[in-house]
Amino acid sequence: MKCKICKADAVVKLKAHNTAFCRECFLAFFERQVAKGIEKQKLFTREERVLVAISGGKDSLSLLCELKRQGYNVTGLFVDLAIAGSSGTARGKVEAFCRERGLELIVKDLAEEGLAIPDVHKAVRRPICAVCGKLKRYWFNKIAMDGGFDAIATGHNLDDECARLFSNTLRWDQAYLAGQGPCLPAEHGFARKVKPLWRLTEYETAHYAFLNGIDTHKDPCPYSQGASFTALKGVLQRLEHAMPGRKLDFYQGFLKRGRPAFESFQASQDDPLAPCPACGYPTSSGGLCGACRIRGQVAEWKKEHGDG
Ligand code: FES
Ligand code: ZN
Repeated sequence: MKCKICKADAVVKLKAHNTAFCRECFLAFFERQVAKGIEKQKLFTREERVLVAISGGKDSLSLLCELKRQGYNVTGLFVDLAIAGSSGTARGKVEAFCRERGLELIVKDLAEEGLAIPDVHKAVRRPICAVCGKLKRYWFNKIAMDGGFDAIATGHNLDDECARLFSNTLRWDQAYLAGQGPCLPAEHGFARKVKPLWRLTEYETAHYAFLNGIDTHKDPCPYSQGASFTALKGVLQRLEHAMPGRKLDFYQGFLKRGRPAFESFQASQDDPLAPCPACGYPTSSGGLCGACRIRGQVAEWKKEHGDG
């Protein structure tokens, strides 16, 4: 198999684009897709400061690596969940990655905040992945706002976005369909949220990380069941196999024609926001924000059960 551009030996075959690339031409393709994704959706400019949330996985590290290469003003953010084994390994990889590339890194330690995920898991009777996601989003936003960043970028790829869109569509969840997309503008004390890898698949980010010699954290989260998303991704993968290019069409079609149809719904459903009395974070709860309530539950649990 030869590279479609330069005829050298190909290392990556991309069915959706009906092409194959050698290492250099693949990296150039990846660069173009990220640039197009940023420009088409006006995610951010070179003058703006972007906080990139990194977990140690292939998507977020590839994102930070490529944005830096393209000359964007980026800072990494790692939220240490304090999960025995897993968080320490991921943190080590993230720190080494940033050190080797001269990248600025902010680390937020949830144990220091009384929010270590194993404690939250014991104290809060709700599915831990949803609660953990909420806490991560809270810190992403708080650190972006407190640090004066213009946007917070995450490594969500086309497969993540399509699985989410598919799930929202299966439930016809109007509020989520109104809000989904690669760019959520800043509003009411929330920073702009962007997903620059929205045009690239998991397969492509994995090849990018591998071809750049990025040492990624591969172990799944020990709490994750991820069943529904994995099932949806499997369905979309089979569809893509039979009809290459369908995932990108599905997602782009939604951005152009689907989302505008739901936008009016979002405007009419917005709850009024007020600052959390404990931390100042915007919340519609009428009292403490979600993160402060969880912190209280963990403290309560520890008081009842001793510290462990
Ligand atoms: Fe948060 Fe698994 S990553 S519970
Ligand atoms: Zn709060």
